Amino acid sequence: MKTYRIAAIPADGIGPEVIDAGNEVLAALAEQEGDIAFDVTTFDWGSDYYRKHGVMMPEDGLEQLKPFDAIYFGAVGAPDVPDHVTLWGLRLPICQGFDQYANVRPTKIIPGVQSPLRNVKVGDLDWVIVRENSEGEYSGHGGRAHKGMPEEVGTEVAIFTRAGVTRIMRYAFSLARQRPRKLLTVVTKSNAQRHGMVMWDEIAAEVSKEFPDVTWDKMLVDAMTVRMTLKPQSIDTVVATNLHADILSDLAGALAGSLGVAPTANIDPEGRYPSMFEPIHGSAFDITGQGIANPVATFWTAVQMLEHLGQPQAGERLMSAVERVCAAGIMTPDVGGTATTREVTDAVIEAIRGRN
Ligand code: NAI
Ligand code: MG
Repeated sequence: MKTYRIAAIPADGIGPEVIDAGNEVLAALAEQEGDIAFDVTTFDWGSDYYRKHGVMMPEDGLEQLKPFDAIYFGAVGAPDVPDHVTLWGLRLPICQGFDQYANVRPTKIIPGVQSPLRNVKVGDLDWVIVRENSEGEYSGHGGRAHKGMPEEVGTEVAIFTRAGVTRIMRYAFSLARQRPRKLLTVVTKSNAQRHGMVMWDEIAAEVSKEFPDVTWDKMLVDAMTVRMTLKPQSIDTVVATNLHADILSDLAGALAGSLGVAPTANIDPEGRYPSMFEPIHGSAFDITGQGIANPVATFWTAVQMLEHLGQPQAGERLMSAVERVCAAGIMTPDVGGTATTREVTDAVIEAIRGRN
Protein backbone atom coordinates (compact mmCIF):
# COMPACT_ATOMS: atom_id res chain seq x y z
CA MET A 1 0.00 0.00 0.00
CA LYS A 2 1.37 3.37 -1.02
CA THR A 3 -0.04 6.34 0.88
CA TYR A 4 0.27 9.83 -0.58
CA ARG A 5 0.08 12.89 1.66
CA ILE A 6 -2.04 15.53 -0.05
CA ALA A 7 -2.35 19.14 1.15
CA ALA A 8 -5.79 20.44 0.12
CA ILE A 9 -6.20 24.22 -0.07
CA PRO A 10 -9.80 24.77 -1.19
CA ALA A 11 -9.64 28.57 -0.52
CA ASP A 12 -12.38 30.77 -1.98
CA GLY A 13 -15.72 30.81 -3.82
CA ILE A 14 -16.38 27.54 -5.63
CA GLY A 15 -12.91 26.30 -4.62
CA PRO A 16 -14.25 24.35 -1.60
CA GLU A 17 -17.15 22.94 -3.66
CA VAL A 18 -14.88 21.46 -6.34
CA ILE A 19 -12.11 20.33 -3.98
CA ASP A 20 -14.65 18.49 -1.77
CA ALA A 21 -15.86 16.74 -4.92
CA GLY A 22 -12.26 15.94 -5.90
CA ASN A 23 -11.46 14.48 -2.50
CA GLU A 24 -14.51 12.21 -2.65
CA VAL A 25 -13.53 10.99 -6.09
CA LEU A 26 -9.93 10.37 -4.98
CA ALA A 27 -11.19 8.34 -2.01
CA ALA A 28 -13.38 6.21 -4.30
CA LEU A 29 -10.45 5.75 -6.67
CA ALA A 30 -8.14 4.62 -3.88
CA GLU A 31 -10.75 2.13 -2.70
CA GLN A 32 -11.09 0.74 -6.21
CA GLU A 33 -7.34 0.59 -6.90
CA GLY A 34 -6.70 -1.15 -3.59
CA ASP A 35 -2.97 -0.43 -3.37
CA ILE A 36 -2.97 3.36 -3.02
CA ALA A 37 -4.35 5.72 -0.38
CA PHE A 38 -4.62 9.47 0.00
CA ASP A 39 -4.02 11.07 3.36
CA VAL A 40 -5.59 14.50 2.83
CA THR A 41 -4.93 17.43 5.17
CA THR A 42 -7.08 20.49 4.53
CA PHE A 43 -5.75 24.02 5.12
CA ASP A 44 -8.23 26.84 5.75
CA TRP A 45 -6.13 29.47 3.98
CA GLY A 46 -7.61 32.07 1.63
CA SER A 47 -9.82 35.15 1.89
CA ASP A 48 -11.65 34.11 5.09
CA TYR A 49 -8.26 33.57 6.71
CA TYR A 50 -7.23 37.00 5.39
CA ARG A 51 -10.25 38.71 6.96
CA LYS A 52 -9.33 37.17 10.33
CA HIS A 53 -5.55 37.42 10.25
CA GLY A 54 -4.66 40.03 7.61
CA VAL A 55 -2.70 37.48 5.59
CA MET A 56 -3.82 34.79 3.13
CA MET A 57 -1.70 32.11 4.78
CA PRO A 58 0.52 31.93 7.86
CA GLU A 59 4.09 33.12 7.61
CA ASP A 60 5.40 29.55 7.81
CA GLY A 61 2.86 28.33 5.22
CA LEU A 62 5.44 26.97 2.82
CA GLU A 63 7.21 25.11 5.66
CA GLN A 64 3.87 23.48 6.54
CA LEU A 65 3.36 22.39 2.93
CA LYS A 66 6.88 21.04 2.33
CA PRO A 67 6.37 17.51 3.72
CA PHE A 68 3.42 16.80 1.41
CA ASP A 69 3.60 14.78 -1.81
CA ALA A 70 1.30 17.17 -3.67
CA ILE A 71 -0.96 20.20 -3.21
CA TYR A 72 -4.58 20.13 -4.38
CA PHE A 73 -5.67 23.73 -4.81
CA GLY A 74 -9.15 25.23 -5.41
CA ALA A 75 -9.21 28.92 -6.32
CA VAL A 76 -8.52 32.28 -4.73
CA GLY A 77 -10.40 35.53 -5.12
CA ALA A 78 -13.15 37.33 -3.24
CA PRO A 79 -15.26 40.33 -4.19
CA ASP A 80 -14.10 42.35 -1.16
CA VAL A 81 -10.35 41.60 -1.28
CA PRO A 82 -8.21 43.03 -4.12
CA ASP A 83 -7.21 40.33 -6.63
CA HIS A 84 -3.50 41.15 -6.43
CA VAL A 85 -3.65 40.56 -2.65
CA THR A 86 -5.33 37.16 -2.96
CA LEU A 87 -3.10 36.00 -5.81
CA TRP A 88 0.20 37.28 -4.44
CA GLY A 89 -0.78 36.23 -0.91
CA LEU A 90 -1.31 32.54 -1.60
CA ARG A 91 -1.06 31.02 -5.05
CA LEU A 92 1.99 32.82 -6.42
CA PRO A 93 4.12 32.43 -3.25
CA ILE A 94 3.54 28.67 -3.47
CA CYS A 95 4.40 28.51 -7.20
CA GLN A 96 7.48 30.67 -6.77
CA GLY A 97 8.59 29.43 -3.35
CA PHE A 98 8.48 25.83 -4.53
CA ASP A 99 10.03 26.73 -7.90
CA GLN A 100 7.12 25.12 -9.76
CA TYR A 101 8.48 26.48 -12.98
CA ALA A 102 6.50 24.34 -15.40
CA ASN A 103 2.80 25.06 -15.59
CA VAL A 104 1.25 22.31 -17.69
CA ARG A 105 -2.23 22.81 -19.16
CA PRO A 106 -3.77 20.02 -21.21
CA THR A 107 -6.83 20.78 -23.33
CA LYS A 108 -8.97 18.44 -25.37
CA ILE A 109 -12.57 18.08 -26.36
CA ILE A 110 -14.15 15.70 -23.87
CA PRO A 111 -16.77 13.43 -25.46
CA GLY A 112 -20.19 14.97 -24.83
CA VAL A 113 -18.85 18.51 -24.51
CA GLN A 114 -19.51 20.81 -27.45
CA SER A 115 -16.73 23.10 -28.66
CA PRO A 116 -17.94 26.59 -29.57
CA LEU A 117 -15.99 26.06 -32.80
CA ARG A 118 -18.27 24.75 -35.52
CA ASN A 119 -16.93 21.50 -37.09
CA VAL A 120 -14.44 20.80 -34.28
CA LYS A 121 -14.99 17.36 -32.82
CA VAL A 122 -13.39 15.02 -30.30
CA GLY A 123 -9.78 14.47 -31.40
CA ASP A 124 -9.54 17.67 -33.45
CA LEU A 125 -8.27 19.65 -30.51
CA ASP A 126 -5.77 17.90 -28.26
CA TRP A 127 -3.13 20.25 -26.90
CA VAL A 128 -0.80 20.70 -23.97
CA ILE A 129 0.25 24.26 -23.24
CA VAL A 130 3.44 24.64 -21.18
CA ARG A 131 3.58 27.95 -19.39
CA GLU A 132 6.80 29.35 -17.91
CA ASN A 133 5.72 29.74 -14.31
CA SER A 134 8.58 31.36 -12.41
CA GLU A 135 9.61 34.58 -14.14
CA GLY A 136 8.72 36.59 -17.23
CA GLU A 137 5.96 39.15 -16.93
CA TYR A 138 4.83 37.85 -13.51
CA SER A 139 8.19 38.14 -11.78
CA GLY A 140 6.82 40.91 -9.58
CA HIS A 141 9.61 43.25 -10.67
CA GLY A 142 8.66 46.90 -10.98
CA GLY A 143 7.14 49.62 -8.89
CA ARG A 144 5.21 52.81 -8.57
CA ALA A 145 6.64 56.28 -8.04
CA HIS A 146 4.91 59.60 -7.24
CA LYS A 147 1.76 57.72 -6.20
CA GLY A 148 -1.43 59.67 -6.86
CA MET A 149 0.42 62.59 -8.44
CA PRO A 150 -0.16 63.62 -12.07
CA GLU A 151 3.39 62.48 -12.87
CA GLU A 152 2.89 59.03 -11.33
CA VAL A 153 4.69 56.14 -13.08
CA GLY A 154 4.16 52.40 -12.82
CA THR A 155 6.53 49.81 -14.23
CA GLU A 156 5.98 46.09 -14.67
CA VAL A 157 9.26 44.59 -15.74
CA ALA A 158 9.39 41.22 -17.49
CA ILE A 159 12.43 39.19 -16.44
CA PHE A 160 13.74 36.45 -18.72
CA THR A 161 16.85 34.57 -17.67
CA ARG A 162 18.88 32.16 -19.79
CA ALA A 163 18.58 29.56 -17.03
CA GLY A 164 14.82 30.05 -16.74
CA VAL A 165 14.13 29.93 -20.47
CA THR A 166 16.46 26.98 -21.08
CA ARG A 167 14.84 24.82 -18.42
CA ILE A 168 11.28 25.48 -19.62
CA MET A 169 12.33 24.81 -23.23
CA ARG A 170 13.88 21.48 -22.21
CA TYR A 171 10.70 20.60 -20.31
CA ALA A 172 8.50 21.48 -23.29
CA PHE A 173 10.64 19.65 -25.84
CA SER A 174 10.75 16.52 -23.70
CA LEU A 175 6.98 16.64 -23.11
CA ALA A 176 6.42 17.04 -26.87
CA ARG A 177 8.69 14.02 -27.40
CA GLN A 178 6.49 11.89 -25.12
CA ARG A 179 3.35 12.68 -27.12
CA PRO A 180 2.53 10.75 -30.30
CA ARG A 181 2.90 13.67 -32.72
CA LYS A 182 6.23 14.95 -31.28
CA LEU A 183 5.25 18.46 -32.34
CA LEU A 184 6.07 21.69 -30.47
CA THR A 185 5.10 25.28 -31.18
CA VAL A 186 7.24 27.96 -29.52
CA VAL A 187 5.20 31.13 -28.98
CA THR A 188 6.79 34.57 -28.52
CA LYS A 189 6.31 38.15 -29.58
CA SER A 190 9.82 38.64 -30.86
CA ASN A 191 8.91 41.18 -33.50
CA ALA A 192 7.75 43.83 -31.01
CA GLN A 193 9.52 42.66 -27.83
CA ARG A 194 13.03 42.62 -29.17
CA HIS A 195 15.12 41.64 -26.14
CA GLY A 196 13.77 38.86 -23.94
CA MET A 197 11.62 37.39 -26.69
CA VAL A 198 14.47 37.26 -29.19
CA MET A 199 16.46 35.43 -26.51
CA TRP A 200 13.54 32.92 -26.25
CA ASP A 201 13.75 32.24 -29.96
CA GLU A 202 17.53 31.78 -29.80
CA ILE A 203 17.34 29.42 -26.82
CA ALA A 204 14.54 27.43 -28.48
CA ALA A 205 16.78 26.89 -31.51
CA GLU A 206 19.67 25.81 -29.26
CA VAL A 207 17.60 23.40 -27.16
CA SER A 208 15.93 21.94 -30.26
CA LYS A 209 19.31 20.41 -31.20
CA GLU A 210 19.00 18.12 -28.15
CA PHE A 211 15.65 16.87 -29.51
CA PRO A 212 16.21 16.07 -33.20
CA ASP A 213 13.12 13.82 -33.22
CA VAL A 214 10.79 16.68 -32.21
CA THR A 215 9.35 18.84 -34.99
CA TRP A 216 8.96 22.44 -33.91
CA ASP A 217 7.79 25.76 -35.25
CA LYS A 218 7.48 29.34 -34.04
CA MET A 219 4.44 31.61 -33.77
CA LEU A 220 3.86 35.16 -32.64
CA VAL A 221 1.30 35.16 -29.85
CA ASP A 222 -1.30 37.21 -31.69
CA ALA A 223 -1.12 34.94 -34.73
CA MET A 224 -1.33 31.95 -32.38
CA THR A 225 -4.85 32.96 -31.28
CA VAL A 226 -5.88 32.82 -34.94
CA ARG A 227 -4.27 29.41 -35.49
CA MET A 228 -5.87 28.00 -32.32
CA THR A 229 -9.27 29.14 -33.55
CA LEU A 230 -9.03 28.30 -37.25
CA LYS A 231 -6.61 25.35 -37.39
CA PRO A 232 -6.76 23.60 -34.03
CA GLN A 233 -5.73 20.30 -35.63
CA SER A 234 -2.32 21.78 -36.54
CA ILE A 235 -1.28 22.20 -32.88
CA ASP A 236 -0.01 19.68 -30.31
CA THR A 237 2.40 20.93 -27.59
CA VAL A 238 2.90 24.66 -27.04
CA VAL A 239 5.42 26.58 -24.92
CA ALA A 240 5.04 30.27 -24.07
CA THR A 241 5.86 32.87 -21.44
CA ASN A 242 3.99 33.29 -18.20
CA LEU A 243 1.65 36.02 -19.56
CA HIS A 244 1.22 34.72 -23.09
CA ALA A 245 0.45 31.18 -21.96
CA ASP A 246 -1.91 32.45 -19.26
CA ILE A 247 -4.01 34.11 -21.95
CA LEU A 248 -3.68 31.34 -24.54
CA SER A 249 -4.71 28.67 -22.06
CA ASP A 250 -7.89 30.53 -21.10
CA LEU A 251 -8.69 30.67 -24.81
CA ALA A 252 -7.87 26.96 -25.06
CA GLY A 253 -10.23 26.19 -22.17
CA ALA A 254 -13.04 28.16 -23.79
CA LEU A 255 -12.46 26.50 -27.19
CA ALA A 256 -12.69 23.12 -25.48
CA GLY A 257 -16.12 24.04 -24.14
CA SER A 258 -15.72 25.70 -20.74
CA LEU A 259 -13.23 26.94 -18.20
CA GLY A 260 -14.97 24.48 -15.91
CA VAL A 261 -13.24 21.54 -17.61
CA ALA A 262 -9.70 22.99 -17.89
CA PRO A 263 -7.03 21.69 -15.48
CA THR A 264 -3.50 22.80 -14.70
CA ALA A 265 -0.44 21.46 -12.92
CA ASN A 266 2.29 23.61 -11.39
CA ILE A 267 5.26 21.30 -11.49
CA ASP A 268 8.69 21.32 -9.93
CA PRO A 269 10.20 18.94 -12.50
CA GLU A 270 13.19 18.30 -10.24
CA GLY A 271 10.92 17.03 -7.46
CA ARG A 272 12.56 19.13 -4.74
CA TYR A 273 9.19 20.43 -3.53
CA PRO A 274 5.55 19.37 -3.74
CA SER A 275 3.89 20.25 -7.04
CA MET A 276 0.46 21.89 -7.08
CA PHE A 277 -2.63 20.79 -9.02
CA GLU A 278 -5.66 23.00 -9.64
CA PRO A 279 -8.48 23.86 -11.99
CA ILE A 280 -7.63 26.84 -14.23
CA HIS A 281 -10.79 28.72 -13.29
CA GLY A 282 -11.13 31.19 -10.45
CA SER A 283 -13.52 31.39 -7.53
CA ALA A 284 -16.55 32.19 -9.74
CA PHE A 285 -18.55 34.29 -7.26
CA ASP A 286 -21.45 34.41 -9.72
CA ILE A 287 -22.24 30.73 -9.08
CA THR A 288 -20.77 30.16 -5.59
CA GLY A 289 -23.10 28.25 -3.27
CA GLN A 290 -25.50 27.20 -6.02
CA GLY A 291 -24.16 23.66 -6.23
CA ILE A 292 -23.60 23.88 -9.98
CA ALA A 293 -19.81 24.36 -10.21
CA ASN A 294 -18.34 22.04 -12.80
CA PRO A 295 -15.98 19.65 -10.95
CA VAL A 296 -14.46 18.19 -14.13
CA ALA A 297 -11.41 20.50 -14.20
CA THR A 298 -10.71 19.54 -10.59
CA PHE A 299 -11.03 15.82 -11.42
CA TRP A 300 -8.79 16.18 -14.47
CA THR A 301 -6.10 17.98 -12.47
CA ALA A 302 -6.23 15.02 -10.06
CA VAL A 303 -5.38 12.88 -13.11
CA GLN A 304 -2.33 15.08 -13.64
CA MET A 305 -1.49 14.66 -9.95
CA LEU A 306 -1.69 10.88 -10.23
CA GLU A 307 0.58 10.90 -13.28
CA HIS A 308 3.05 13.10 -11.41
CA LEU A 309 2.95 10.78 -8.38
CA GLY A 310 3.80 7.84 -10.63
CA GLN A 311 0.28 6.35 -10.73
CA PRO A 312 -0.64 6.75 -14.41
CA GLN A 313 -2.98 3.74 -14.35
CA ALA A 314 -5.09 5.22 -11.56
CA GLY A 315 -5.04 8.45 -13.55
CA GLU A 316 -6.36 6.66 -16.61
CA ARG A 317 -9.13 5.03 -14.59
CA LEU A 318 -10.24 8.45 -13.32
CA MET A 319 -10.02 10.14 -16.74
CA SER A 320 -11.98 7.36 -18.36
CA ALA A 321 -14.67 7.63 -15.66
CA VAL A 322 -14.94 11.40 -16.24
CA GLU A 323 -15.18 10.91 -20.01
CA ARG A 324 -17.90 8.27 -19.71
CA VAL A 325 -19.96 10.52 -17.42
CA CYS A 326 -19.66 13.51 -19.78
CA ALA A 327 -20.42 11.34 -22.80
CA ALA A 328 -23.60 10.19 -21.02
CA GLY A 329 -24.66 13.85 -20.77
CA ILE A 330 -24.31 14.11 -16.99
CA MET A 331 -22.86 17.61 -17.00
CA THR A 332 -23.26 20.97 -15.28
CA PRO A 333 -24.98 23.97 -16.95
CA ASP A 334 -21.72 25.66 -18.09
CA VAL A 335 -21.28 22.84 -20.62
CA GLY A 336 -24.93 22.62 -21.54
CA GLY A 337 -26.12 20.08 -18.97
CA THR A 338 -28.60 20.24 -16.12
CA ALA A 339 -26.73 18.21 -13.49
CA THR A 340 -25.44 19.56 -10.19
CA THR A 341 -21.91 19.24 -8.83
CA ARG A 342 -23.26 16.49 -6.55
CA GLU A 343 -24.81 14.53 -9.42
CA VAL A 344 -21.68 14.72 -11.59
CA THR A 345 -19.53 13.67 -8.62
CA ASP A 346 -21.78 10.72 -7.78
CA ALA A 347 -21.82 9.63 -11.41
CA VAL A 348 -18.01 9.75 -11.61
CA ILE A 349 -17.73 7.72 -8.39
CA GLU A 350 -20.14 5.14 -9.84
CA ALA A 351 -18.12 5.06 -13.07
CA ILE A 352 -14.89 4.52 -11.09
CA ARG A 353 -16.58 1.56 -9.42
CA GLY A 354 -17.52 0.32 -12.89
CA ARG A 355 -21.25 0.54 -12.31
CA ASN A 356 -22.14 2.81 -15.25
P1 NAI B 1 -13.65 32.66 -12.96
O1 NAI B 1 -12.82 31.62 -13.59
O2 NAI B 1 -13.86 32.58 -11.51
O3 NAI B 1 -15.06 32.71 -13.70
C1 NAI B 1 -15.24 33.05 -15.07
C2 NAI B 1 -16.59 32.54 -15.57
O4 NAI B 1 -16.52 31.11 -15.74
C3 NAI B 1 -17.72 32.79 -14.57
O5 NAI B 1 -18.91 33.09 -15.29
C4 NAI B 1 -17.86 31.47 -13.85
O6 NAI B 1 -19.16 31.21 -13.37
C5 NAI B 1 -17.46 30.46 -14.92
N1 NAI B 1 -16.82 29.30 -14.30
C6 NAI B 1 -15.55 29.24 -13.81
N2 NAI B 1 -15.31 28.04 -13.28
C7 NAI B 1 -16.44 27.32 -13.42
C8 NAI B 1 -16.83 26.00 -13.05
N3 NAI B 1 -15.99 25.16 -12.43
N4 NAI B 1 -18.08 25.59 -13.34
C9 NAI B 1 -18.93 26.41 -13.97
N5 NAI B 1 -18.64 27.66 -14.35
C10 NAI B 1 -17.40 28.12 -14.07
O7 NAI B 1 -12.96 34.05 -13.34
P2 NAI B 1 -13.35 35.53 -12.88
O8 NAI B 1 -14.82 35.66 -12.73
O9 NAI B 1 -12.63 36.43 -13.79
O10 NAI B 1 -12.65 35.71 -11.46
C11 NAI B 1 -13.30 35.49 -10.22
C12 NAI B 1 -12.24 35.53 -9.14
O11 NAI B 1 -11.37 34.42 -9.27
C13 NAI B 1 -11.35 36.79 -9.17
O12 NAI B 1 -11.14 37.19 -7.85
C14 NAI B 1 -10.09 36.31 -9.82
O13 NAI B 1 -8.97 37.03 -9.42
C15 NAI B 1 -10.01 34.88 -9.29
N6 NAI B 1 -9.22 33.97 -10.12
C16 NAI B 1 -8.44 33.06 -9.47
C17 NAI B 1 -7.73 32.11 -10.14
C18 NAI B 1 -6.98 31.10 -9.37
O14 NAI B 1 -7.15 30.95 -8.19
N7 NAI B 1 -6.10 30.33 -10.00
C19 NAI B 1 -7.76 32.04 -11.61
C20 NAI B 1 -8.68 33.00 -12.22
C21 NAI B 1 -9.35 33.94 -11.49
MG1 MG C 1 -5.44 32.83 -16.00
